[in-house]
Amino acid sequence: MTRCGPGARAFSAQEIAGWYDADQGLIDKRIYVDPDIYELELERVFARAWNFMAHDSQIPDTGDYFVSYIGEDSVIVVRDDAGAVQVLLNTCAHRGNVVCRAEMGNTHSFQCTYHGWNFSLDGRLAAVPGSDPFYRGKLDRSRWGLAKAAKVESYKGFHFATMDPDAPPLADYLGEVGRIGIDQMAVHGELEAVDGVQKNLIDCNWKIAVDNLYDWYHVNVSHRSAMRVGFVNASVMQPMQQMVMLGEYGHAISGPGISEEQQQVIDGLPDAERARLDALSFEARAELAPRITERRPLRPKAVKAVMGPVGVRAMGHPNIFPNLWISTRALQLSLRIPRGPLQTEVWWFTFMPKHYDAQQRRMAMKFMSHSFGPAGLLEQDDGENWTCSTRAALGRVARRRPQNLQMALGEDQVRLDPSGQRSIETRVNEHAQRWHYRCWADWLKAASWDELKRSKSPVPAGRV
Ligand code: FES
Ligand SMILES: [Fe+2]
Repeated sequence: MTRCGPGARAFSAQEIAGWYDADQGLIDKRIYVDPDIYELELERVFARAWNFMAHDSQIPDTGDYFVSYIGEDSVIVVRDDAGAVQVLLNTCAHRGNVVCRAEMGNTHSFQCTYHGWNFSLDGRLAAVPGSDPFYRGKLDRSRWGLAKAAKVESYKGFHFATMDPDAPPLADYLGEVGRIGIDQMAVHGELEAVDGVQKNLIDCNWKIAVDNLYDWYHVNVSHRSAMRVGFVNASVMQPMQQMVMLGEYGHAISGPGISEEQQQVIDGLPDAERARLDALSFEARAELAPRITERRPLRPKAVKAVMGPVGVRAMGHPNIFPNLWISTRALQLSLRIPRGPLQTEVWWFTFMPKHYDAQQRRMAMKFMSHSFGPAGLLEQDDGENWTCSTRAALGRVARRRPQNLQMALGEDQVRLDPSGQRSIETRVNEHAQRWHYRCWADWLKAASWDELKRSKSPVPAGRV
């Protein structure tokens, strides 16, 4: 039996398995509203997973810090005196007050505002007011530093942390699909985070916000107003040609894809023509793309070697399990941070390639700030749906009927490329959503990383 949180109910493995019916594609609605299930998620998903913390460009110098979350735990991501990135629990070792109240900045140390304990950039307790007169010299400072993440690692400048010492190395955790997700950003060249992370509280369960990022079914209905005003185009928002890549631990990429035939046309372009295209901005490449890829912008030639022959054709949305979405144009990251079962704080990080000129920056910023974030045309539509879907799950009668995730269930075949990369190439579908919930259940059932590694669902092959 599994019990989490003060007074939380215990759940058996069979009970957890019953929340998601993989054969039928059905979800028990209480996973969106039950406080005890939420406690289990904090313990077995967020406190165990590799969580995205910050990008290199946000903390370039000694003392630079950025405050983030691992589940409900506030953490400080800081570059210490030795140049290493530390992830420290933002909770004073004395009585639990926060030690950093700003969202980001630069400092020599962190001083708690309650009684003044002072912590160095690597979390050691450096000074205590009244150490001699009040503590009589008996407080052992070496035992009362800030708690730290068990591991901190980075991939291509993106720093992640886990609270579990048994977690596999970050590169293994990401696996091929997670790495391709981050590569989508990295291939833009050297990136700089734009100042200010947009933060927006939405009354919805975090999983509903995550499963929506794979959802290319809702766009023509939910976002019709954005289409009517000409902000987005229907063929871009819901192309028939879709492609899904499923990865270990629940990572996936889902959305538009470029067919093998289209890729052959791209690969066959003369070198001089490719070089000319590669030098263009995202917008300019998108303008040229319709004749080859139905408006998907061509990726620079060198990218194929990084992403592989299948990965380079995946143009959809990656999610690094549990809650990191690499979003539109691969220049934005969105975290869906849980705030209780009924609320999610959505964070938007925006990046600019350093080589963009002023005009390119203006165009990219305009599109991105008008799409997502608190003022985004698309996110306002989405947020309203997520709130209503979550609230409905509180209804005793509404909860008797499961949620339906049956689209294309059993209808598609996983293709195995000679390179070893797998893809599902099809129309609009719900393969990635089903994979997300299947893996989520694996995480909740397993009591340790060792058990999760042994018992997790294999990445699907054959019929899905
Ligand atoms: S709670 Fe931080 S110094 Fe007392
Ligand atoms: Fe949407």
